[in-house]
Amino acid sequence: MKRNFSLFGILSLLILFMTGFVVKKNVEKARMEQCIRYVVEQEMLQSDSILKSGKILNPRTVESGKVKYIPKDDWTSGFYPGSLWYLYELTGDEKWRILAKRQTEAIDSVKYLTWHHDVGFMIQCSFGNGLRLGEQEYKEVIIQAAKSLSTRFRPAAGILQSWNTDKGWQSQRGWECPVIIDNMMNLELLFNATRLSGDSTFYRLAVSHADRTLKNHYRPDYSCYHVVDYSLKDGSVRSRQTAQGYANESAWARGQAWGIYGFTVCYRETHDVKYLHQAQKAFDFVVHHKNFPKDGVPFWDFDAPKIPNEPRDASAAAILSSALYELSGYENGTYYKDWAGKIMESLSGPAYRAKLGENGHFLLMHSVGSIPHGAEIDVPLNYADYYYLEALIRSRRIADRTGR
Ligand code: GLY
Repeated sequence: MKRNFSLFGILSLLILFMTGFVVKKNVEKARMEQCIRYVVEQEMLQSDSILKSGKILNPRTVESGKVKYIPKDDWTSGFYPGSLWYLYELTGDEKWRILAKRQTEAIDSVKYLTWHHDVGFMIQCSFGNGLRLGEQEYKEVIIQAAKSLSTRFRPAAGILQSWNTDKGWQSQRGWECPVIIDNMMNLELLFNATRLSGDSTFYRLAVSHADRTLKNHYRPDYSCYHVVDYSLKDGSVRSRQTAQGYANESAWARGQAWGIYGFTVCYRETHDVKYLHQAQKAFDFVVHHKNFPKDGVPFWDFDAPKIPNEPRDASAAAILSSALYELSGYENGTYYKDWAGKIMESLSGPAYRAKLGENGHFLLMHSVGSIPHGAEIDVPLNYADYYYLEALIRSRRIADRTGR
């Protein structure tokens, strides 16, 4: 009798556990489906208003209550085409592929851009995703863009120069060869180009840049500087500063996210564990920081003086979440996946995700471009939406593969 009772107890517990697991899975599945329905509807409104104009317009943000469209040499020009590829991937609906092709091919000439480093972002997010989803003829664009980016390699320093210093505000900082942490994001294009062309030069430049960045951009606590200026003559570090953060010694939130994402990609491409450790340690800095909010959406700078009365940066959160989903593929447990999911849950709630038809038809509210420049403060941004969509796809892929 006693034995039967124990057996009954164990069975009941097992059934309870299984029921809980199935209920949780169904709730998560329903949440994901709801999220996909929302992004499709909101993006449809965005693309309808572009189609109605009869022009090929590339939305970046909202300024003075109006959607701001950008020219193709703007550093963010690849994100909207890339978002359309993600919508195609999410839905399989041919309509999105046609729109994505139209917007992507409109920025084709960017492959020749050599006057800033962002050609990596621009071409990889647009043509790179198109190629991944079947557009074989985009190969040549990737290779040409990688050649353009390679012209920015400075042998003495072993890095790719981010900005030119001959005009604009960058000319007023006394820099010789400024490199920003964001540049880690351009390396994916180079890795891709080596795979497509068989030319290992691109790979070697990417590794050199990553190694120098790991050595020179990071502090002992694994936070990173925004800008490191190198000597063109002997490659030494001239100074470490910020451009978009609060102070030279502060931790600009999006910069931390770019670094974590960039080193995760470097690990994927090279299997060198030092890059994996760098990404993990850099996330440790973020997650254990006293100013990292419970909802996982960082303030624009970890050292901003008026926290908690400072703007959040949803773009940093979206980049971080997407990077963490990838990092979770390199762990045994669910630590990174759980953090990625937590951030996505916050971004998908009413505090950050726009109501249908509002926010200039962008998905996320509350991002920050550059507070020191007084630009794009607490606004939607096309790259916040791009990485949000990427994170959504990555989370669905994990759920499909693992059932969790
Ligand atoms: N790459 C420029 C920025 O993150 O604002």
